[in-house]
Amino acid sequence: MLKAFSTDENIYYFNSENFTLSTSEIASEMDIVREHDEGILKKVVINISNNCNLSCVYCYADGGNYGMTNQLMDVTTANKIIEELCNDGIQVINRLILFGGEPFLNIDLFVYIIKELSKNIEIKKIETVTNGTVLNQKVKSMIDCYHPFLTVSLDGPELIHDKLRGKGSHRRTMKFIDYLKKIDYENFELASTYTRMHQKLGFQKEDIYNYFINMEVRFNINHVFSKNKVLVVKEMEMTEEVQKTFIDQSLDDIINNKVKNYISPIVYDVLLSMIFKSKTKSFCDDIDPETTVTFDVDGTRKSCFRFWGTHNSDKVAQFNNKDTFAQCKDCWCKDMCMECVANMIDGYSQIISEEGKFLECQKQDMMEYCIYKIIELSKDKNRLSKLVNHFERFLRYA
Ligand SMILES: C[S@@+](CC[C@H](N)C(=O)[O-])C[C@H]1O[C@@H](n2cnc3c(N)ncnc32)[C@H](O)[C@@H]1O
Ligand code: SF4
Ligand code: SF4
Repeated sequence: MLKAFSTDENIYYFNSENFTLSTSEIASEMDIVREHDEGILKKVVINISNNCNLSCVYCYADGGNYGMTNQLMDVTTANKIIEELCNDGIQVINRLILFGGEPFLNIDLFVYIIKELSKNIEIKKIETVTNGTVLNQKVKSMIDCYHPFLTVSLDGPELIHDKLRGKGSHRRTMKFIDYLKKIDYENFELASTYTRMHQKLGFQKEDIYNYFINMEVRFNINHVFSKNKVLVVKEMEMTEEVQKTFIDQSLDDIINNKVKNYISPIVYDVLLSMIFKSKTKSFCDDIDPETTVTFDVDGTRKSCFRFWGTHNSDKVAQFNNKDTFAQCKDCWCKDMCMECVANMIDGYSQIISEEGKFLECQKQDMMEYCIYKIIELSKDKNRLSKLVNHFERFLRYA
């Protein structure tokens, strides 16, 4: 599909199938072919701990155990998973994510899985997400030895963090972050879950953004997904104006190479498509057993970690198919659009309800705005080339 973008000087045509922009109406024939390499998995996620030492008020994992009993994965289950992956002929795992609950409560198995898996399989990148409250000698040596990418959850200043994650948790997580800084560890980012409680306590999203900028760390800020009105972010935070300012700011940040800054998901999706020709056929391309596998704490396979424990669903394929929804089927920017299917099924999505009804979507307007901005800045070749060349450094899950 060709979408026209009219500016004062020209009409540009955006080919929404191969993400090219041209002043000619003749569609470029270039097609994007997705290749799948045998023996390579893009992502393996393993739930090594259904235990957690915190009980954050918003936790989608029901306090860490996904609605099941608190338990750590044992060696027998880990061995079964390793054997399965080897028997499947897997030679390379691009991203191995050891997850939970709190994964560092099972640090012995964390190390065991890496050691045993890497005997037969090349692991390109090890990752984990932690609440940063478990900092013992074993955790320190694991970091030193395996250099994993760490996402450390920090919701903001002490007042709000402790309100959401429990008294004293901010102090403990900051100790962890200070340790990473002390050892000059660069391979980490902070992740904040932004809620209505932030707003109630007077923390606008910009305040949290500045809080992280001042800490001089990589970070991202995600809106909470929840049905609880006390937690869900008030609409005004997402007005068109605010989103557009964020798009402008993000484009500037990329051009100025401010790699630690968190950029707008709209800019991210548009540039990923236009620069890297990444085409998303379904809402979540990670839900694909050929490229992504997740293992629950008992070793069972699930299409995504969000379907662990009692959260499993038989509606995944239906919701993941953009053609299920008439508005999405005919949408000009559908091949750039990524949405979380678990959020739809659990009733957290603002776009598609848990009953499978299309609600509303502002993304088309925002993507259009973003492409107009790119056309505008393309008049300055120097800025355009910086945008294209720097973007690679902003990729989060390369
Ligand atoms: C389930 S936790 C597991 C890892 C670890 N226990 C932690 O808290 O970092 C993974 C991430 O999901 C985030 N999270 C939990 N519940 C959420 C929700 N309802 N909405 C958005 N993010 C959420 C947490 O803040 C954390 O960054
Ligand atoms: S620390 Fe993580 S797993 Fe534990 S309750 Fe909080 S969000 Fe959930
Ligand atoms: S309508 Fe919205 S949710 Fe549907 S494909 Fe288009 S941008 Fe994505």
